[in-house]
Amino acid sequence: MSSDPLVIFTPSGKRGHFPVGTPILTAARQLGVDLDSVCGGRGICSKCQIAPSFGDFPKHGVTVSETALSDWNAVEERYDRIRGLKQGRRLGCQATVQGDVVVDVPPESQVHRQVVRKAASARPITMDPATRLVLVEVQEPDMHEPSGDLERVQDALRDQWSIEHVHAGLPVLRKLQPALRKGEWKVSLALHTPANMEQTRILDVWPGFHEGGLYGLAIDLGSTTIAAHLCDLVTGEVLASSGLMNPQIRFGEDLMSRVSYVMMNPGGDVEMTNAVREAINTLAGEIAAEAQVDPALIMETVVVCNPVMHHLLLGIDPVELGQAPFALATSGSLTLPARDLDLNALNAEAQVYLLPCIAGHVGADAAAVALSEAPDKSEDLVLIVDVGTNAEILLGDRTRVLACSSPTGPAFEGAQISSGQRAAPGAIERVEIDPDTKEPRFRVIGSDLWSDDPGFAEATAATGVTGICGSGIIEAVAEMRMAGLLDASGLIGSAAQTGTTRAEPEGRTHAYLLHDGTADGGPRITVTQGDIRAIQLAKSALYAGARLLMDQLEVDTVDRVVLAGAFGAHISPKHAMVLGMIPDAPLDKVTSAGNAAGHGARIALCNRAARTQIEQTVGRIHKVETAVEPRFQEHFVAANAIPHATDPFPELAKVTTLPAVAFGASGGSDGGRRRRRRS
Ligand code: FES
Repeated sequence: MSSDPLVIFTPSGKRGHFPVGTPILTAARQLGVDLDSVCGGRGICSKCQIAPSFGDFPKHGVTVSETALSDWNAVEERYDRIRGLKQGRRLGCQATVQGDVVVDVPPESQVHRQVVRKAASARPITMDPATRLVLVEVQEPDMHEPSGDLERVQDALRDQWSIEHVHAGLPVLRKLQPALRKGEWKVSLALHTPANMEQTRILDVWPGFHEGGLYGLAIDLGSTTIAAHLCDLVTGEVLASSGLMNPQIRFGEDLMSRVSYVMMNPGGDVEMTNAVREAINTLAGEIAAEAQVDPALIMETVVVCNPVMHHLLLGIDPVELGQAPFALATSGSLTLPARDLDLNALNAEAQVYLLPCIAGHVGADAAAVALSEAPDKSEDLVLIVDVGTNAEILLGDRTRVLACSSPTGPAFEGAQISSGQRAAPGAIERVEIDPDTKEPRFRVIGSDLWSDDPGFAEATAATGVTGICGSGIIEAVAEMRMAGLLDASGLIGSAAQTGTTRAEPEGRTHAYLLHDGTADGGPRITVTQGDIRAIQLAKSALYAGARLLMDQLEVDTVDRVVLAGAFGAHISPKHAMVLGMIPDAPLDKVTSAGNAAGHGARIALCNRAARTQIEQTVGRIHKVETAVEPRFQEHFVAANAIPHATDPFPELAKVTTLPAVAFGASGGSDGGRRRRRRS
């Protein structure tokens, strides 16, 4: 047995014997312990911090004396004086082994640290980004052995970091010579190594040790909104999140109207490409300013989007996506220089990664949801619905996953609704209607008080009550149905039929007055017959899409439902079921995943193995095309009633009894609940 001291690393438990004088960083590397280093052990970066423990460790069978590590050296003294080292910390590249020792590697010193996500169901992300920082010491030029500065940087990367096949573009070549000389032949390099590890590209260079950090953007490019998270590429932390409306809305509210715009207007695709690229540049600038980060330090961005957005961002005419067989220019993932997409707000050499598309109507956003929610690893049958202008729907378990998209339109986002608005302060987001008095009460974004609570007027004085957002309209329609203001066909009753003067005539139909703010100069907020119809169309499309996937799997129920999307996070499962938006499932089995597409983009940004994983998973997802499926129409029509005509939600009996009113058009009949799996 070796008489060399024993070094034990926690939390990994890795251990080995090393000669006296071995730096802890060297021991860690030899044992494969995850201990970070950017400067390669030069005592500059402080990424290698460790915490030695002293005393008796019966579990490990060692006693660690106070002299188990070398004394503080001049480098550590200097670092502590200037920057300050936390109590009990040492620099792993400076402290050397003198005796048996137990060394803890704190989370911030681990390269592959885990980033815990907020959503309860979410799995942690293991940091392994494609872009990282290294410091190299480069040989000075020698007239007798002529070679270029880049070639000597390549040599240094090979010798000091075992990184080969490195190349650099013109923006880096222009900065390289001054950086080397200013840094006295030490430079920090931002290196981008894709998942296949084939080639490494130098994205940027700084003299000496670069302390400014490296950042990435995870972008969820939707038809209506563009949302972005700015992430620290070292810690994985989200530094800022922001969003803006997709300016392409002026060319058409939904995807097909934008494709039609291109068909009718030659050059329309270029207009829309320019609009979305400009919006992303604006968003990048705003989000960087919010986080007080130089946008030139954004080295990478991951974009998830539906196929039409995907093509328009890339500057590819989307016309083929508007007609069968809905062929994509490419369904594979893409890694491109950001400048090819005119994303000039980012670093000049920044890279863009686009997740693969599943098919012509099911895009990289659905792939990102699959990456985030992993239906392919689920033991039970899960239905994942990402609600937006276009709903992405995934159904499956670890044996098989199906996907489709369904054109719900923008009603769920508050658009095409008479008093509709985006989810913003002042928007009604929760609604309750008393079934006896038919009187409503509501809550608006920005206040926790209900409208009949004391202090509501004061609490909302700043924002006012401005309109109704997506989750608000869903609750309003469902509550109207439960209060008997609406019949199963979706018809609003008159004042005489419903017994409330809030049911007002509007042309040949009726509207329900939710809030009258006119006395204070505010709006009158009503739910009109047109609003009900828009919600019926949207929810029927959503339900029909889900149902089509269930047909394919020959099941009539699912074990659980996950509502994804920024909007999905705010939908009340009970009201969604009353409406018949989603197939029935026990209420406690309906959960929200937040912005799953955005999370998927963040996972791909922080972990390049996740890119390989989703590229493989997408190849196994079976795509169902709603546009050419005759049963889609059948399901769509059947889903129009509130709740669904042939598949009402039996769980509702526990929460309410729907009144059997009929104000004109015939309502739906109640059918029995069918078996879980068809035989
Ligand atoms: S490795 Fe950089 S300070 Fe130790």
